[in-house]
Amino acid sequence: MIKSLQTFSEYQKAYELSIKDPSLFWGTIASTFTWQKKWDTVLRWNFTDPDIKWFEGGVLNITENALDRHITAGKGEQKAIIWEPNDPTHPTKTYTYKELLASVCQVSNALTSLGIKKGDRVCIYMPMLPELCIATLACARVGAVHSIIFAGFSAQALADRINDAEANLVITTDSMARGNKQIAIKPIIDEALTQCKSVTKVLVFDYLQTEIHMQNGRDVYWQQLVSTQPTTFKAEPMQSEDLLFILYTSGSTGKPKGVVHTCGGYMVYSAYSFKQVFQYQEGEVYWCTADIGWITGHSYIVYGPLLNGATTLLFEGIPTYPDAGRFWQVCEKHKVHIFYTAPTAIRALMAYGTDFVDKYDLSSLRVLGSVGEPINEEAWHWYHQHIGKGNCPIVDTWWQTETGGIMISGLGNLTPSRPAHAGFPLPGIQPVLLNQEGKEITHNEEEGYLCIKHPWPSMLRTTYGDHERCRITYFANYPNYYFTGDGAKRDTNGLYRIIGRVDDVINVSGHRFGTAEIENAINQEPSVIESAVVAFPHDIKGQAIYAYVVCEEKPSTDTEEAMSKKAIHDSVIKEIGKIAIPDKIQFVSGLPKTRSGKIMRRILRKVAEGESHNLGDTSTLLDPEVVKEIVAGSLHQFKS
Ligand code: WT7
Repeated sequence: MIKSLQTFSEYQKAYELSIKDPSLFWGTIASTFTWQKKWDTVLRWNFTDPDIKWFEGGVLNITENALDRHITAGKGEQKAIIWEPNDPTHPTKTYTYKELLASVCQVSNALTSLGIKKGDRVCIYMPMLPELCIATLACARVGAVHSIIFAGFSAQALADRINDAEANLVITTDSMARGNKQIAIKPIIDEALTQCKSVTKVLVFDYLQTEIHMQNGRDVYWQQLVSTQPTTFKAEPMQSEDLLFILYTSGSTGKPKGVVHTCGGYMVYSAYSFKQVFQYQEGEVYWCTADIGWITGHSYIVYGPLLNGATTLLFEGIPTYPDAGRFWQVCEKHKVHIFYTAPTAIRALMAYGTDFVDKYDLSSLRVLGSVGEPINEEAWHWYHQHIGKGNCPIVDTWWQTETGGIMISGLGNLTPSRPAHAGFPLPGIQPVLLNQEGKEITHNEEEGYLCIKHPWPSMLRTTYGDHERCRITYFANYPNYYFTGDGAKRDTNGLYRIIGRVDDVINVSGHRFGTAEIENAINQEPSVIESAVVAFPHDIKGQAIYAYVVCEEKPSTDTEEAMSKKAIHDSVIKEIGKIAIPDKIQFVSGLPKTRSGKIMRRILRKVAEGESHNLGDTSTLLDPEVVKEIVAGSLHQFKS
């Protein structure tokens, strides 16, 4: 098992070694895992192609490390998963490591019986149930590549992702429970699959026993197939660089891309970072409130905790159901030691006041975590004071879908912390800040482009089916660096502060969208000619979506406007999902463009932020009049 660093100086020593001799450093950590065959080379790489190979020649299965290994070590009876349902009056469910392994093996056998073999892609579209975790691990056990899709995406978004990955199987449920709502899931799959040729089977976990259509020969009930399967399954031997999963995420341009993570490196880094950041101690209960459909859930609900033999809490519900005390009630109920959530959730709960917090005993809490976007100082202090009672370190963890694991963060209470600063890089992580010319900024307090100059084990290897896109997106802007897309600063002590995206990616409540992706969805509405989407600051969501839309005929009455807005909402819901609905839509007769036809987003951003003067240089605009109209129209937006 991985040993946790105990002091700040141990962190500093580990960091130095990791830079001086990365192969020795990571080789030593990798040796604490179970390998069917040891690797030949720790690392071989170049950022030009890019070509990154960790632990080449090594053979392993991540589930043997996440499950079997702990049972062999005598921890079979320890709780692996605590599942807390949406409805607090329903029973909690737990799985010991032994039980979890047995369930994973049953599903592995079921997958095999459906013809799934090593290398096949399996799409998982499920709510936060233990079965989602089990299905994920079962894919890993049989060597199938999982592609989990957040169960808030639309049929179209689902179809795009299934087709890109050419998935053979979909695992899903009939319906899901969310707050006081029940949401049908299977019809979304049925609609998506009308466009997907590659899928031959659908495995349906009958969760809420809602009436659904089962397609003969294609759809199979989980309960019927799984319960009769043997509870053992020999884990598939995987090469270190075999694919473990694909996870779709948005970028500046085009459709979301499938970020590829591989077995060996991802295992080593998700486990190492979990242990160090949260300083996880044997027997503690750890709760990350993310959804497994995002990278946070992959690395820090499923893999990181289980690889460390931890108890990971899985929560089906939402923070405000039945009331805004739900998170804290769950913390009290399960005596949670480590709690990891997003700033948007903290801000939303802050608004309800502290009565909902003070009702519960939160004395079990030891470490608090934050992820997804910069945490503003007000939320930081509220979290620190009211949740942590001033005693718990807050680890502000900066990372990305592409990085696979936490890159810059505090480590429990070992490292200095400062509100709104993520802190120091983890051992093995070599961040740099680059200026406009691509030169490293060496002095502090200056903002630059955040890049990483050396590989780390869980970095993305490619974007599925399109390696060139991976090269161009991450490795071409600054040769020999991985470009994160974020801007950052270092303070005089070397702590990093993440400023936010410097590209056309926006972060709404921790959900990541490309402006082009949302524009494309809006433009699908037949009356729309073109649109431009920018972000504006939002008290709870962090950023929100502002869309400028040009229609064939600009709506002229309130009723017409309402109808057009509704049509645009519907189009976004259809193409992406409710999570991407613009917060504000402004109808304009034209967009501010340069003579070469480029939309001047800088101006649109300023207007969306409420700025009506100081719009900067508008002399290169094709039609400066457009800006006047946009500014005038925006005032109307701020009234509403
Ligand atoms: C982007 C990545 C990593 C899991 C959740 C999001 C922003 C993430 C922080 C943080 C400031 C943060 C960045 C990053 N971000 N964590 N602690 N402080 N910004 O993963 O969807 O891949 O988004 O989220 O802008 O690039 P993702």
